[in-house]
Amino acid sequence: MENFKFNAYTEILFGRDQIDNLPKSLAVYGKNVLLTYGGGSIKKNGIYTKVMDLLKGFNVVELAGIEPNPKIESVREGVRLCREHQIDVILAVGGGSTIDCSKVIGAAYYYEGDAWDIVTTPSLIDKVLPIITILTIAATGSEMNKNAVITNMQTNEKLGTASTNMIPQTSILNPEYMFTLPAIQTAAGTADIMSHVLENYFQKTEGAFVQDKISEGLLKTCIKYCPIAIKEPDNYEARANLMWASSLALNGLCGCGKGGSWTCHPIEHELSAYYDITHGVGLAIITPSWMRYILSDQTVDKFVEYAVNVWGLSPMEDKFKLANQAINKTEEFFISCGIPSTLTELGIDASKFDFMAEKAVKFGYLKYAYVGLEPADVRTILENCL
Ligand code: NZQ
Ligand code: ZN
Repeated sequence: MENFKFNAYTEILFGRDQIDNLPKSLAVYGKNVLLTYGGGSIKKNGIYTKVMDLLKGFNVVELAGIEPNPKIESVREGVRLCREHQIDVILAVGGGSTIDCSKVIGAAYYYEGDAWDIVTTPSLIDKVLPIITILTIAATGSEMNKNAVITNMQTNEKLGTASTNMIPQTSILNPEYMFTLPAIQTAAGTADIMSHVLENYFQKTEGAFVQDKISEGLLKTCIKYCPIAIKEPDNYEARANLMWASSLALNGLCGCGKGGSWTCHPIEHELSAYYDITHGVGLAIITPSWMRYILSDQTVDKFVEYAVNVWGLSPMEDKFKLANQAINKTEEFFISCGIPSTLTELGIDASKFDFMAEKAVKFGYLKYAYVGLEPADVRTILENCL
């Protein structure tokens, strides 16, 4: 296990009725609130009305319409509103897209240049407006972490930025808010949670036993509860377990003490940058292809661990057979949750693969991944997804 620093800065208010604490949480920072949200799901399911009722004593300015894969234009508009209305605190109600956009708005508020600079150069981030979130989808872990991912469709770039100052102060997690999620978002969100865990599970660092056991538990949680949540959207237990898994998968707990770059995420970000696809769908397609590509004498033992401890497969003499069974199980699981299994199904062909492979290697530092990759490797992984 490597040296690490771990902090869980975010206050989590988990469960039914926790939203009643919202006024108290916001009041610490001031009266002027920027309320951010997406394309309208919070209006359909009643969360918006509830929030507005609770915020009667506050001055609320709204930034609506934040897109999935949030765009830099939304960030710029948010910064403009914050400056015009002297905003004290940002309240993000939604998923990773709304929360990420809000984080970068909060950071860009204190930055004199263009907001895109702090996406490409995270070291420019200094002070950040306080962020409070109300989570409506289990997926990114943004409700409890320092990351934000913003897309610039002009340059076909989808880039992650990060700062501990962007970590939300408080996140309200009520599993009931996920009852209205479409099945495909439940599935994609779960694939995202699983990918966050897998990116850290498959790393070169030896002896991070506790992190790996936590990771296996989170993966088993996703495998158990995603199908239940799809079948019974208002199953509280399923939603609650997925929601908490989302936060724990990417709040530093699984990744601390383990080095190395991630692999599937940088590749998926290239797909979204060119084709604006759903993050978790891209990950579910790439992951089995990546696993098959990197399976070798050097990695097979880790896949055996994955097969036995996550999928409950029985140990066997032929380690490669077992590893391949686990990879097949992974792929079959995503398909059973209703996620397309090929890029072709999303209308994506190989025409941009060379650009995407170059950029994934460059921005994702893929040479330092579990199995280091060059652009030609990424191209093959993508071709195998067609
Ligand atoms: O926009 P609305 O109308 O709210 O609809 C959303 C959106 O269409 C809908 N939705 C959310 N909650 C709902 C709901 N519909 C009905 N009922 C509800 N309760 O779901 C759709 C997806 O929302 P989005 O916020 O885009 O999902 P997600 O949380 O998966 O966020 C994806 C973004 O986060 C980035 C991704 O790249 C992508 O841009 N990531 C952020 C990370 C982070 N900050 O740490 C890490 C991740 O790896 C990821 O890269
Ligand atoms: Zn992700």
